[in-house]
Amino acid sequence: MFYQRVIRPILFLIDPEKIHNFTIWGLSFFSKYKLLNVLLKAKLNYTSPRLRQRLCGLNFKNPIGLAAGLDKNGQAINTWSAMGFAWAEIGSITYQAQSGNKKPRLWRLPQDKGLVVYYGLYNQGAHKIVEQLKKKTGLISASIAKSNDIALEQAADDYQATFEVVSPYADIITINLSCPNVDNFTGLQSKKLLEPILERVQSINKQQKPIWLKIGQDLSKAELDDIIYLSKKYHIDAIIACNLAKDRGSLDLKSLHRDKPGGISGEKIRDRVDKIIAYLYQNSEGQYKIIGTGGIFSGYDAYKKIKAGANLVQLITGLIYNGPMTINIINRQLENLLANDNFKHISEAVGLESGDYHLYE
Ligand SMILES: Cc1cc2nc3c(=O)[nH]c(=O)nc-3n(C[C@H](O)[C@H](O)[C@H](O)COP(=O)(O)O)c2cc1C
Repeated sequence: MFYQRVIRPILFLIDPEKIHNFTIWGLSFFSKYKLLNVLLKAKLNYTSPRLRQRLCGLNFKNPIGLAAGLDKNGQAINTWSAMGFAWAEIGSITYQAQSGNKKPRLWRLPQDKGLVVYYGLYNQGAHKIVEQLKKKTGLISASIAKSNDIALEQAADDYQATFEVVSPYADIITINLSCPNVDNFTGLQSKKLLEPILERVQSINKQQKPIWLKIGQDLSKAELDDIIYLSKKYHIDAIIACNLAKDRGSLDLKSLHRDKPGGISGEKIRDRVDKIIAYLYQNSEGQYKIIGTGGIFSGYDAYKKIKAGANLVQLITGLIYNGPMTINIINRQLENLLANDNFKHISEAVGLESGDYHLYE
């Protein structure tokens, strides 16, 4: 409450990208100094037998992760776990450093509890970021993306180059296929372009790291069916649904900056993502896990995604709007919701309501 009543109104007076950079700089101190980390952990960390899961060969202390894009360069790599996240996704990382799109490139949508993001995959590049990954203590996923100056047809070579640099130092590799802010990037989700990428990545994945795919939310039924088919064929461990919304026609945004260029996060994308999760679950035949991402602000939001079919969830915007206690609060609320429904373990709730959703009417 203190964050929402006092801190947030002050932060929201300042340029969003400046606040983003300032926050990461501040959190990087916690990452460097063990004692600060221990104090943070004592205050914020939350786990329980009901929420703990073993998935993709890894132990998740609770179902909440940090989504890609907040810690692009892994500067605060060890703070996220102390803040209560079960794992953090670093990146998205490209082979070379990239400066991204011209500023301004981040806007708040306060009436819609969301953001417009137009960063365009800026990051310090795989070789620099891997030095941060080497320092990790908790579970980390490295989100890798095609470099902006590489043609779509050469994407497999580019993903391979980045994969080879970062994969020895990450627990999970996420292949980002869905950045809405780089021209044609989402075209990587087509069967023709995606198959060579998956074939290549799995052929070089000697350490058998879990491979997750991050998809967009603007896919036709045929495109989503192709992704499901290829995920099974290439033994993809999990699908992350979803990235920022590209198409904002149906979102009914109210905030001042609703027409700025970029992808939309937050509350207004939540319901569509839930439908996509349910569709992925209905068609999974248990062959991949699902990570739900988009518009989670409360334990109830996370629970809805879990009942639609998600095994784990991730967030960014909820943290920005609700502050550092968010993860702790969501986990406690989730624990109560599961207990009220007489579930002894979170896995009993996964997909229970997937049949209630209809993505393609
Ligand atoms: C500031 C910001 C930067 C982001 N950058 C990336 C990125 O580099 N790679 C990626 O896969 N997703 C990126 N995303 C998308 C998020 O990972 C997530 O899918 C999306 O924001 C929906 O979750 P949310 O509503 O909880 O924020 C970014 C989101 C935000 C808000």
